[in-house]
Amino acid sequence: MKFLITALLIAGALIASAFAFVYTGMFNVAADAPHSAFTYAIMETVRSHSIAARARDVQPPPLDDATLIATGAEHYAAMCSGCHLAPDKKESEIRAGLYPQPPDLTKHLYASPAEAFWVIKHGIKMSGMPAWGATHDDSSIWGLVAFLQKLPELTLAQYQALAESKGESHHQHTHEHNDHTGATMNSSHVHDGQKAEHHHHDQ
Ligand code: HEC
Repeated sequence: MKFLITALLIAGALIASAFAFVYTGMFNVAADAPHSAFTYAIMETVRSHSIAARARDVQPPPLDDATLIATGAEHYAAMCSGCHLAPDKKESEIRAGLYPQPPDLTKHLYASPAEAFWVIKHGIKMSGMPAWGATHDDSSIWGLVAFLQKLPELTLAQYQALAESKGESHHQHTHEHNDHTGATMNSSHVHDGQKAEHHHHDQ
């Protein structure tokens, strides 16, 4: 009997503190207030196992294809360098304020090709990493993965040449990239009000 009462009291206290946690606003959601080391470690573990489990059946195509890499480079400069940096972009205002902070992909890519594909396609909840699969087909995403294998070894000149090469003619779809960086703010994008279109000289 005594045991039962103790168990009920403990259960009641746990439920009350769960309600207090949710409804009093005691948890600070601010991006400039880091998680505790414990919370961070749990989130990191959940994330890496979730990605590894979902990327297991993803089969990478050959990633050494020059066209694939060039297409990825152009997309990376337009859509990713603001958060993940580039040889011509050592810091950015958006990256400085994001939590978790986007990894600097010019240094090292931790994800395997299959994992990187999955992350780029589906994004990561509760981080700034968007699901690019909403607007890009699988071959564009493999282009990004192929480019990311090369990025840490590229010099500034090599990066700029690739980012401006715009891939090949199979990349014909028109879409809007609203995060233009220095690397692509040139003749490769024509600004027509809100709209930016790709112009391929090789078509
Ligand atoms: C708004 C900022 C933002 C943009 C734009 C963005 N990312 Fe991310 N990305 C993140 C964040 C934040 C993480 C880390 C998430 C985490 O730690 O849970 C991340 C993680 C990743 C990872 C996993 C890194 C690793 O080493 O395991 C890859 C790969 C990646 N992003 C690729 C891309 C690509 C490619 C693009 C462009 C198509 C892109 N990201 C655009 C914020 C961004």
